[in-house]
Amino acid sequence: MKSIVLSIGLLLLAFFPVAQTLLVVPDTLVGPNISLEMHKDSVQFFPGQISYTYAYNQYSYLGPTLIFEQGEPMNITVTNSIEDTTTVHWHGIHLPSQWDGGPHTEIMPGDIWNPQFTVMDKASTYWYHPHLHMKTALQAIKGAAGFIIVRDPNEASLNLPREYGVDDYPIVIQCQEYDSNNQAMPLGMQDSTILVNGARANYGGNSVYGNFPAQMVRMRLLNASGERSFNFGFSGNMNFSQIASDGGLLNEPFDTTRLRLAPGERAEIVLDLTGLQGQNLYLMSYASELPMGVQGGPTMPMPPGSTPMDSPLNGIDFNIMQINVVAQTANAVTTLPSILENNVPYDEFTADITRTVRFTADSAMVMDGPFYFNDSTFNMDRIDFVIPINNTEIWKLVNETMVAHPFHIHDVQFYILDRNDGTLPHRGERGRKDVVFIPTGDSVRFITKFEDFTDTIIPFMYHCHILMHEDDGMMGQFIVVPPGFVGVNENMKLSEKLVVYPNPVENGLNFNMPEGIEEYDLRITDASGRVLLSKNGNTMEQLDVTMLKSGSYYLIVRANDKFYTANFTKL
Ligand code: C2O
Ligand code: CU
Ligand code: CU
Repeated sequence: MKSIVLSIGLLLLAFFPVAQTLLVVPDTLVGPNISLEMHKDSVQFFPGQISYTYAYNQYSYLGPTLIFEQGEPMNITVTNSIEDTTTVHWHGIHLPSQWDGGPHTEIMPGDIWNPQFTVMDKASTYWYHPHLHMKTALQAIKGAAGFIIVRDPNEASLNLPREYGVDDYPIVIQCQEYDSNNQAMPLGMQDSTILVNGARANYGGNSVYGNFPAQMVRMRLLNASGERSFNFGFSGNMNFSQIASDGGLLNEPFDTTRLRLAPGERAEIVLDLTGLQGQNLYLMSYASELPMGVQGGPTMPMPPGSTPMDSPLNGIDFNIMQINVVAQTANAVTTLPSILENNVPYDEFTADITRTVRFTADSAMVMDGPFYFNDSTFNMDRIDFVIPINNTEIWKLVNETMVAHPFHIHDVQFYILDRNDGTLPHRGERGRKDVVFIPTGDSVRFITKFEDFTDTIIPFMYHCHILMHEDDGMMGQFIVVPPGFVGVNENMKLSEKLVVYPNPVENGLNFNMPEGIEEYDLRITDASGRVLLSKNGNTMEQLDVTMLKSGSYYLIVRANDKFYTANFTKL
C-alpha cells in the first residue's frame, strides 16, 4: 500500500513540476531625494490564501533598495500609510539619533517623517526596517524591510562585481511561521517557511532560482529573520570569498565554505562561477553544524512520545535557493583584488572605559525569554548609559543564558577584539560590525568610538536582534553627550507627561514644570521630527509660538534627570 501511495506521489511530481520563481531583484532608489511610503498589502504565499503584509512603495512585500553615496546629503520622506504607528530605522548607518528611527521617533498614521543627514558610512550592505516599541517583530516579519547599499570611492576603485542585478545581487532571507489563517506570527517556534527576496522558497523542492553569469558574482546576504540563524554554504561545499562584513569591506577576501549569519547580520560574498555555464548549484544552510542553543540549530532531544515543538528545519541541512549558471556577461570580473580595505581597529589601550553587558534571564533554564541586559528589562524611560562624545569604549558582552543572541548597537560600527577573553575573531569577523553573535556561555569584547553626533534627549538603542527578544525587553539605550555635559544620570527616567495650555494654542504656550525645577533644555519639533525651537530656560515662561505654522507639534523638555513631553496643536 505504501509503495502505491509513493508512486502516485512521484507521478504527481512528474506531471506537476514545482513552480519555480525567478529571484526578485528589488528596484533601486538613488539619492539624495528618496521617498518611501509604508502601506498595508497582501500576498498569496500559499496559493489561494491571503497573507496580510506591510511593504514600501510599489511592492506588496519588502521595499526598494536604497542606494546611498558616501558624502551625499540625504533628504528622505517616509509616509506612514498603515493604520498603526511605525518608525523607520536605517540599520548600520551612522547618523544623528533624531534621524535614527528608533522607538522614540514615531511616525503616526498619515504623517510624513523627513530625516536629513549626510552619508558617512563605508561602502557595504545595510538595511531599513521599523523599530516601534514592542512591534518591531510584527511589522518587520509582515514585510516592512529593505536594503540600503552604500557606495564609496574606495570600493568603486576596486575591480569587484558591482552591476546591480547582473553580477551583484541583494539577497534577503527570512524564515517565518504562518498561523492557521496564513498570517505571519512573531512568536513562532515552528518557523519553517523560507522567503528569499520575499518569495516562498521551500515547498515541494526549490522554488526560487537565480540566473547568475559564469563569472565572479557578488551576493549581499542579509538575514532578516525574526529569530533563525543560518549557516550558509553551497552544494558540493563550493568555496567562496567573503569580502565584507556588516559595515564595510574586509581588509582582504576571506576564502571559506561557510558563513554563519544571525538575525540582523549582513555579509557580502563572491562566488566564482567561471567555467560553470549550464550547471546549477544551491545556496544552502548547513544548520546541522550549528551549536546547540542557536535558534535554527540542533535542538535538545525531547522525551520519547512528546510532540516536537520546534521547526522541522532545525538542525538539518536544507536548500535555500537554486543558482543556474548562464552565459558570461561582457566585462566579467574573473579575479578578486587581494587587498580590499585598510581597517585599523581602535587600540585597546586607548579605551576610556569598559562596560559590561550581561545577557540574563529569570532563571538559567529559560529558553524562550524574556531575556534582559544586566537583569533589567527595557524601559523607554530609562537611559542606561551616558557616553561622552569621542569616547573610545570596550563593551564586554557576556551571555549567561541558555540561548545564543545576536547583539546589535546603533550609531556605531565596532571591531571585535576577542571571544572568551583571548580567542581572536575569525577572518570574516575582523571588519566593521554592528551585530555580533554570542553563543550560550560565551563572551565577546568589541571596541568602538562614539563620534560626531550628540543628543541629550533622543537616545540610541542596543538590543538583541532576535526580534522577539528585542520586543520582549532585551534592549537598552544610551545618549551621547557633549563635553562637560552634566545633569543626566544613568538610570534616569524619561518622558513624563507635561501639561501645556492653552491647547490648541495661537501665540503663547504655557507649560507647568513640576515643583522645584529651575533649569531645563527645551525643544519643539514638528511631526516630521524637524527641530523648530531649541533653548535653555531657567524660569517658568511662556513660549512664543506665533511663528509656527498651524499643525501638530511636540514639546520635549529635559530637566535634572528627567524628560517631559507634550503634544500640542498650533491654530
Ligand atoms: Cu536592525 Cu535596532 O535594529
Ligand atoms: Cu540598527
Ligand atoms: Cu536574544
